[in-house]
Amino acid sequence: MCGIVGYVGREEAAPILLDGLSRLEYRGYDSAGVAVYGKEAGMQVAKAKGRLQVLCDQIQGGNILHGAIGVGHTRWATHGAPSDVNSHPQVSENGRFAVVHNGIIENYAELREFLQSEGVQFVSDTDTEVAAQLLEYYYQGNLLEAVERTLHTIRGAYALGILCADCPDRLIAARKDSPLILGFGAGAHYLASDVTALIKYTREVCWLDDGEIAELTADHLWVYDAYLRPVEKEHRHVDWEISAAEKGGYEHFMIKEIMEQPEAIRKTVSPRIRDGRVVLDDWQLTVRELEEMDRLYIIACGSSYHVGVAAKYILEKLLRKPVEVTLASEFRYCDPIVSERTLALVISQSGETIDTLAAMREARRLGAKVVSIVNVVGSTIARESDSVLYTWAGPEIAVATTKAYSTQLAVIYLIGLYCADLLGTLDRTEYDAILSELQRVPDKLEEILKDREDIQYFASLYFNRPSMFFIGRNLDYAVGLEGSLKLKEISYIHSEAYAAGELKHGTISLIEPGTLVVALAGCGPLFEKTVSNAVEVKSRGADVLGLTTRDRAADLSRTADDVISIPETHPMLLPSLAVVPMQLFAYYTALQRGCDIDKPRNLAKSVTVE
Ligand code: F6R
Repeated sequence: MCGIVGYVGREEAAPILLDGLSRLEYRGYDSAGVAVYGKEAGMQVAKAKGRLQVLCDQIQGGNILHGAIGVGHTRWATHGAPSDVNSHPQVSENGRFAVVHNGIIENYAELREFLQSEGVQFVSDTDTEVAAQLLEYYYQGNLLEAVERTLHTIRGAYALGILCADCPDRLIAARKDSPLILGFGAGAHYLASDVTALIKYTREVCWLDDGEIAELTADHLWVYDAYLRPVEKEHRHVDWEISAAEKGGYEHFMIKEIMEQPEAIRKTVSPRIRDGRVVLDDWQLTVRELEEMDRLYIIACGSSYHVGVAAKYILEKLLRKPVEVTLASEFRYCDPIVSERTLALVISQSGETIDTLAAMREARRLGAKVVSIVNVVGSTIARESDSVLYTWAGPEIAVATTKAYSTQLAVIYLIGLYCADLLGTLDRTEYDAILSELQRVPDKLEEILKDREDIQYFASLYFNRPSMFFIGRNLDYAVGLEGSLKLKEISYIHSEAYAAGELKHGTISLIEPGTLVVALAGCGPLFEKTVSNAVEVKSRGADVLGLTTRDRAADLSRTADDVISIPETHPMLLPSLAVVPMQLFAYYTALQRGCDIDKPRNLAKSVTVE
């Protein structure tokens, strides 16, 4: 959730730290801080509640802090409300240690009590201060030893950046269950929670694994295991463009990323089609393993889970195998039925979501094979899966996901076609029809995006409704879930998504004059059924904004007050098209309401706490 950065080199550290933090602000944005060590100035710490800009202004873009080594942090509060004092870096009582942290130290209360009984004075409510004070408590002149003892004492999840005034030429990094990346520059080394903070400075990186500790100086970098035994790390080259992590003339990252979807899908799909067939080089499961598969669990959170809901319909239809889609946070604790014949399909944009990661580890422990769909190359979920299928969406910065959702869904179609081909569960004509429509999705999305002002107009009609419902059946229901989440996240309008046939079993009591119901009626054979449900809500005073394919728009407009029409396609591919007007509707509604679209309240992009 929080973002951390660190720099050691020959240049002024503060501007580099602030720049890195500006690229991580989507991880947390309730407060920020930096600590820089300079020969003359010693340890300088600046922290401020609020957006990063408040800190930047306070320290004049970093120009008033001097020194070539430092750490920085942008916070998503867990322990202690957002405030100057609770911001990181947290500093030990005598100022020797400055610590930035992402994660949660679970035994912080007992450690705090212990340290207090030893006379240590605490100033903040954070769990992180415990780490800073513990380092000081264990420090007897050897930095690495103090770090080792501290890490063996704390329990929980952490990515840590540590600066020690006694060793002003080196930074310490450590990780367990929270992402941490090290960057290799010319006469400099970096640490960051996310590669986007580094790509301006270096493309050569390595990922710390759980339990590892790194020691960084300007010219050297050493990695150790939890007992300080040296570890060899492989360097990886990251080829994301810096421009991909910038707004490029758009008002928000979200609209930029919505517009990037056709290209992102092309990049994800095209290289995996050869001679009219889907080829998944990264897929490690044999035909036999697929045939023997007893069930397929799809495990994910949030929007990735919504892709999973669509995937259940798609994969069951194509593979004729039982598919269960489960929320990662539930899967972990539900004593799932998993055998060696079970396949776990894990979906995650960041590859770092802690619930998804833990559920994946649980599935593996119980014997399942794991295939993941991940956007961030080298992320923990990617590294720990048996097979990983990357979505080539490029960095996604807006908190509300758009292009990651679309590319994940595209990979689901690829998996469905590929496995159906191996299993022989799909006849050739249908295979060809789905595959050729999949390849046409980007062009059709371009048509939808070209007409985005129509959606903006609908948003201007309905943006002030207090409550909205999204109804649909089958794949339309899956799209409704995502449409509703997008709206809630960025516009703060109360909204629910319902399977259209289920509404009358209780929730229809909430429909009253002025409620907006978005009726998704794209799905071929169920069109009439959804229209009937739209009629039911209309009779109770709701306004209906319908969505369907162009050939049915006139039909739907007999019931709906307004209709969004999308190009025709194979019914199975409709979610790929229908989700984009939903994203645009949420975006323009939030814009009308003056919301902070890229940084919605209470949210962070990468959810690395349980
Ligand atoms: C919603 C959104 C979240 C994520 C969820 C899982 O717009 O972005 O619901 O989908 O937090 O994140 P990943 O896919 O990174 O595991």
